[in-house]
Amino acid sequence: MLDATPRKLVEVRDLKMHFPIYAGILRKRVGEVKAVDGVSFDIFAGETLGLVGESGCGKSTCGRAILRLYDITDGSVKIDGAEIGDTPQGGLRKMRPTMQMVFQDPQASLNPRMTVEAIIGEPLMEHTDLSRDKRRDRVHELMDAVGLNRTFSNRYPHEFSGGQRQRIGIARALALNPKFIVCDEPIAALDVSIQAQVVNLLEDLQEKFDLTYLFISHDLSMVRHIADRVAVMYLGKVVELSPREALYAEPLHPYTKALLSAVPEPDPDMTTEDRVILQGDVPSPSNPPQGCNFCTRCPAVMDICHREDPEFREVQPGRFVACHHYNQTAGDTAASEDNKSIQQGETT
Ligand SMILES: Nc1ncnc2c1ncn2[C@@H]1O[C@H](COP(=O)(O)OP(=O)(O)O)[C@@H](O)[C@H]1O
Ligand SMILES: [Mg+2]
Repeated sequence: MLDATPRKLVEVRDLKMHFPIYAGILRKRVGEVKAVDGVSFDIFAGETLGLVGESGCGKSTCGRAILRLYDITDGSVKIDGAEIGDTPQGGLRKMRPTMQMVFQDPQASLNPRMTVEAIIGEPLMEHTDLSRDKRRDRVHELMDAVGLNRTFSNRYPHEFSGGQRQRIGIARALALNPKFIVCDEPIAALDVSIQAQVVNLLEDLQEKFDLTYLFISHDLSMVRHIADRVAVMYLGKVVELSPREALYAEPLHPYTKALLSAVPEPDPDMTTEDRVILQGDVPSPSNPPQGCNFCTRCPAVMDICHREDPEFREVQPGRFVACHHYNQTAGDTAASEDNKSIQQGETT
């Protein structure tokens, strides 16, 4: 449960991660992929913040940038009050134990030549001076915590099922008692039949070890079960952030509405007219549209959306949205004029 005044464990402000694109024999820089393009949110201690959006919208890059697996292009990342956005890679070493990542594909993220004991014990080797015996004890403890039989500690990753391999990855992430874990689609590569087990394990571990999660998923209905609050990403930006209940009960952003109406859950109240079908593809993050990133596909697009990038702001207590439909201030007059022109059937 969250306290009355929750403590901010992670504070992300205007985070940008642009990857350069090079071309030609001279490898000239010809552009950049704006994978994450100005993202701001907080994650409170003990909570799970869900980060959702279609494939390619920048979720993984965002998670990795927050953990400083990249040198970020711009912005600020504070973990427990300490700014790490501009810390050189060498200086991050002592921060690493407090923040960890669980990857989507346990097959690819575990070294096939290492035994389970070596894999889980590797962070202990790197960051502690535990003796070999103490390290083994700790590895066994971690295997117990994630429900792996300790007698398997000398086996190799390929000898395990997908679900068990993900447990190995989780045990490794837990080895140094982290506070914050980015779970990047941790169950997406697993059989449906074992997805729930891994989700339940992550929830149990969160309670037991007081963990804070950024839980990345492309699946809104999955996040509903695990997240306290949900951030919706589109083309490198967070378009809406809301407590879970409010988001699913009354999505604000047209993109969230579209995503939710695509979730195949039987809802007797939903008529076919309520369904929003998105037209077209996600534009390229190397060439995002002018104005609002969603303007090319938005069913409720207005004139101003093609001109101005909407500000990400709090429109109801705890509810943030980046959409001109919710702008009460500067864009107000323009927005209402646009509304009129929409009613008159003028589309631009
Ligand atoms: N290392 C990289 N170099 C260049 N482009 C990248 C790199 N990593 C990701 N991208 C691009 O950034 C965008 C966002 O990718 P990603 O963060 O993996 O999205 P998601 O996790 O939401 O599917 C994509 O267009 C992807 O091709
Ligand atoms: Mg991803």
